[in-house]
Amino acid sequence: MAPDHTCSAPTLVESLSAALALRETKSARRRLTVLPRTAVDFSSNDFLSLSTSRAYREKFLALLNNTPPSFPFASGGSRLLDGNSAYAEELENFVADFHQAPTALLFNSGYDANVGVLSSIPQPGDVILYDELIHASAHEGMRLSRAGARKMFPHSSPPGLREVLQSQIAADPAIRNGSRNVFVVVESIYSMDGDVAPIKEFIKVVDDLLPAGNGYFYVDEAHATGVFGPKGAGVVQELGVQNRMFIRVHTFGKALASHGAMVLCGPETRDYLINYARSLIYTTALGYPFLASIRAAYELLASGETTSLQYRLQQLIRHLRQRLDGLHTRPSVMFEIDHFPTSPIISLRTSQPRQLASACQEKGFIVRAIMPPTIPERKERVRVCLHAGNTEAEIDGLVRTVQVWLDESQRKAAKL
Ligand SMILES: Cc1ncc(COP(=O)(O)O)c(C=O)c1O
Repeated sequence: MAPDHTCSAPTLVESLSAALALRETKSARRRLTVLPRTAVDFSSNDFLSLSTSRAYREKFLALLNNTPPSFPFASGGSRLLDGNSAYAEELENFVADFHQAPTALLFNSGYDANVGVLSSIPQPGDVILYDELIHASAHEGMRLSRAGARKMFPHSSPPGLREVLQSQIAADPAIRNGSRNVFVVVESIYSMDGDVAPIKEFIKVVDDLLPAGNGYFYVDEAHATGVFGPKGAGVVQELGVQNRMFIRVHTFGKALASHGAMVLCGPETRDYLINYARSLIYTTALGYPFLASIRAAYELLASGETTSLQYRLQQLIRHLRQRLDGLHTRPSVMFEIDHFPTSPIISLRTSQPRQLASACQEKGFIVRAIMPPTIPERKERVRVCLHAGNTEAEIDGLVRTVQVWLDESQRKAAKL
C-alpha cells in the first residue's frame, strides 16, 4: 500500500524547500551566479589583481615547468601520511621568515585553519572573547572547542573588550591568578565592513587586566595579506606587534591569487596542531601546483614587486572615496557610505541593495548585494572591492551608475 501523506509531517525535501521559500520572502535566498568575464571586477578579493598579472603567471608557470618529472603533482594523502614534502616544509619556513614568525603551518584553506586551531587550542574551561563581526569559520571553530565560555564583545571596541574581560575576571579566580587562559579573537581587517582593528589598543587592555600573561591574541589577517603592512605582510607587522600574537592566520585565496592558509605560531603550538587539529589531520594536503602558486605569490611579495600594486591600490581607494563624496543623495532614499580610509572594501548601505547591485551589473560592473545572515539585520549593503588593476575611468563609471540609480530611486519615492 502507498504511504498516506495527507496529514503527515512534511518530507525532508518539503522542509528544505520551505526553508528556501522563507529565505526568498526575506530576500535572503542565496544563489550561485556566473557573471561575464568581460565585466569590470569591483567584487572579488583579488585586491592586487595578481590572479591576472603577468608577473605572477610567469613565476607560477616557471615553477610548474621546472618541476622534475618524478615530482608528484598530487600530494597523495594527509600531511601526516603521504601528503608531506620537503617542498611544503620549505614553503612554511619561507612564509614564517617573511612574517617574522617562529614557525608556520599550512592548512588547505582559511576556513580549515580557523576551525582546526580554534577547536583544538583552547583548553577545557578556557575563555574565548571574540569580536562580534568575526568570520563564520572562527565561529565554527569556537563552537567545536572545549572552552568553558565564549563571549562576544562589541565590534572593534577596546572599552567593550575591557568590560567583557573585567566581568570574566570578576567571575573566575582562575583567570585572575593566571591559571586559566583567555583568547582574544579578532580580524585585522573585517571582510564585510573593511575596517582595520585597533590591535594596539586591545593589547593595552589585555596587558592591564591580565598581568600574569594568560591573555593570548588570535588575529585573522585574511583580508590584510598582501594589501597592508611592509611588502604586504599584514597589519600586525605594520604595527610591529608580531611578538605579541599567539596565532596569526594568513590566507592565500584573496590578494595572493591562490588557495590555502598558514597559521603562524610557536614551535610547540605547531606541533600540537599537527597532533590535534582535525581539519589538518583528516584531509588530503594541498598538491604541488597549489604549493607552487603560494610560493610564486610569496616570492613576489618578498622581492618587493607587489609594493607598487599596494601603492596603486591606495591611489584608487582615494579616487573612489573622492567620487563617492561627490554623490548627490536625498533624505528620501536611504544611502550611506561606510569606509575605513585606507581599506579596499567599501560598503554602500541602502535598504535596496539588490536593486542597486542589479543596476551596476547591467552597466557591466560586478558588485554584490550582501544580505543577512552574512551580515547583521538592517546592515544590508552593496560591497565594493577595489583592485590594483581597476582604473580611474572604471571607478568614475561605477559612481555615475550609482548616481543615476539614486536619482531614479528619488523620483520613484517622490511619486509614492
Ligand atoms: C576573515 C576571514 N577568515 C577566513 C576566511 C576563510 O578563508 P578561505 O577562503 O581561505 O577558506 C575568510 C574568507 O572568506 C575570511 O574573510
